[in-house]
Amino acid sequence: MSKLLEVEGLRVSLPTSEGRVTIVDGVDYAVEPGEVFGVAGESGSGKTISMLALLGLLPDGAHVGGCAQFGGRDLLRLPKRALRDVSGRDVAMVFQDPMTSLHPMLSVGKQLTEHVRRHLGLSKDEAERRALELLEEVRIPGPRSALHAYPHQFSGGMRQRIAIAVALACGPKLLIADEPTTALDVTVQAGILRLLDRLRRENDLSVVLITHDLGVLSSIADRISIFYAGRVVESGPREDVLQTPRHPYTKALLDALPHPEASERPLVAIEGAPPSPARIPSGCAFHPRCPYATEQSRVEVPPLVEIGGGRRLACHNDPFA
Ligand SMILES: Nc1ncnc2c1ncn2[C@@H]1O[C@H](COP(=O)(O)OP(=O)(O)O)[C@@H](O)[C@H]1O
Ligand SMILES: [Mg+2]
Repeated sequence: MSKLLEVEGLRVSLPTSEGRVTIVDGVDYAVEPGEVFGVAGESGSGKTISMLALLGLLPDGAHVGGCAQFGGRDLLRLPKRALRDVSGRDVAMVFQDPMTSLHPMLSVGKQLTEHVRRHLGLSKDEAERRALELLEEVRIPGPRSALHAYPHQFSGGMRQRIAIAVALACGPKLLIADEPTTALDVTVQAGILRLLDRLRRENDLSVVLITHDLGVLSSIADRISIFYAGRVVESGPREDVLQTPRHPYTKALLDALPHPEASERPLVAIEGAPPSPARIPSGCAFHPRCPYATEQSRVEVPPLVEIGGGRRLACHNDPFA
């Protein structure tokens, strides 16, 4: 199957108070048409920065390397204007805080219609019809009156649905959802995940779902990639990675998840904290926290290699093979 998005060797460095620091260090992944691709890893592992890089949304002074093929073009080499067209239409993004994409002073209807009129050149009537259709699609109750309401009049979950409607307005092929449920309580979170799952089935849409909580991906992603310190340490089909993790970091993330069916089982928090990008450990960046680390782990960066079954692993020791 041809890929919708193919990212190779993505590197991002940013200027910081400690000098120029590598935040994303050679990330590879591909997104297939129509799939939900999950990206997980603790906070600070470079998930958001690696996505912002694709849309030219990095802070000033950022250096970007590698390539990101999308629709026959390398997003990292598109002129700014062409990239703006792509990022408004073909690739859309939603964030943890829906107010990042919503305007507090404009009615929901106004935001939706302005967006589709600007990008799709629809007439006023057509744009209103499209706005209504979008609110129905994301299951906003009473969509007709919702058109005249303002974002603050909705709950967090409903606001996230509206932000998703705005993202869908121009019929994107790829929706990047960055921690879209992190601020929501568990039931509302489940509703948003079901919505994303339905949208990709009904709209010929791929979703990149980013989360610091591997549990979020347990029911929805087709394939997942695990990020640690700006690198991919493991990737593969969701069930395989979650049921038989191969990287000690993935295993540690899973052991730290609460198990509803076994509440007496103690949670095993991962020892230590993820490193600051200014002080990434040598060799395998996880080695100071890894019970299986060897001398080689301390010295050599393990390459991400195919291990069969569509899986890839970056570990010298592969202790669970
Ligand atoms: N504008 C910035 N300038 C310098 N460092 C940044 C900036 N934005 C993020 N970082 C750093 O980059 C690292 C990765 O951040 P991010 O991609 O947001 O992580 P994640 O989304 O995985 O939580 C973090 O250590 C963060 O502190
Ligand atoms: Mg983030």
